[in-house]
Amino acid sequence: MAVGILLVGGFGTRLMPLTKHTPKPMLTIAGLPVTEHQLAMARNAGITTVVLATSYLSELFTPYFGDGSKWGIKLIYAVEEKPLGTGGAIANAAQLLDTQESIVVFNGDVLSSHNLKEQIRQHEANDADVTLHLTAVEDARAYGCVPTDSNGRVTAFLEKMDNPITNMINAGCYVFNPAVIKAIALNTVISIERETFPELISKNAKVFGFMDNAYWLDIGTPEALLKGSRDLVLGVADASALSMAHVARHEGGALIMEGAVIDSTAVISGGSSIGGHATIGASAEISGSIIDKGAIVNSGAIVIDSFVESGAIVEKNAHISHAFVTKDEILSI
Ligand code: GDD
Ligand code: MG
Repeated sequence: MAVGILLVGGFGTRLMPLTKHTPKPMLTIAGLPVTEHQLAMARNAGITTVVLATSYLSELFTPYFGDGSKWGIKLIYAVEEKPLGTGGAIANAAQLLDTQESIVVFNGDVLSSHNLKEQIRQHEANDADVTLHLTAVEDARAYGCVPTDSNGRVTAFLEKMDNPITNMINAGCYVFNPAVIKAIALNTVISIERETFPELISKNAKVFGFMDNAYWLDIGTPEALLKGSRDLVLGVADASALSMAHVARHEGGALIMEGAVIDSTAVISGGSSIGGHATIGASAEISGSIIDKGAIVNSGAIVIDSFVESGAIVEKNAHISHAFVTKDEILSI
């Protein structure tokens, strides 16, 4: 049975100021932390041991996820005092896994419904060193560009090119032969994308692509974070994590978590989610938005395509559109 490493140590710079006190993977989408949605996907593929590779705000994961038993997963925590980069993080986390099994590494900000079981099966059937999930996007510039040959062998790994040579990109889910990870230097800042993958390819290692164009989204930008949440609420993305969560109501384009207090005249729509113990006042209209736990939207307010942070307050009759609302500021996105 394969084991997992989830990379959750990045700074989440593009999502500031939401990521000032909350690491990106702990941000709420569709009522739950991004990581919880990802763990459900890993569990669905039969992965029951996962190392969380933490660094930035590492102390915020354990109080929520504990030993993982609530989700039927054994969770182990690796902490990098200073971020080691994606390659260094993988090497550091793998030390905590004494295994001969395939190791599946996930970027910690991706929602994906691809067939992970099949990716692992093909990796093992090919006796590959690494098998990368690849997906097609319209604009590949923000991603790792990954051309393959007619046998599915990866011929280059080109991180964030100005003029991408293919629209097939690295989707941020890799199956590794554990020996390949053992060969990565410890306690060294290394990028898996810019160093390890290009080196493996130049040494003619068996690096394969697994092409699967199922639902896929990197939630690392403000627009994508909100889209990811809406897609989960509307059933466009797989929201199986919700089946184990405390949901009060999930219908008509709205997800309401238990403990939320919502006036009967409020209108919640367009894939919005309302966190536990949030309060929504009379005649408020919430569309396409994330209202995090304990936030308050006062009466008559209109909130469109926005994220209202835990503990933040939207004033009576305010009109908020395409914004992050924190306890300190309202930022247009
Ligand atoms: N533990 C740890 N330590 N995690 C890290 C570190 C680190 O030093 N640096 C980044 N991460 C984690 C982030 O938290 C995130 O979950 C993941 O690694 C990827 O980092 P991003 O900052 O989100 O990278 P990106 O979106 O620009 O690009 C990556 O993802 C694309 C797909 O979404 C690359 O892997 C691209 O090749 C890929 O196409
Ligand atoms: Mg990302």
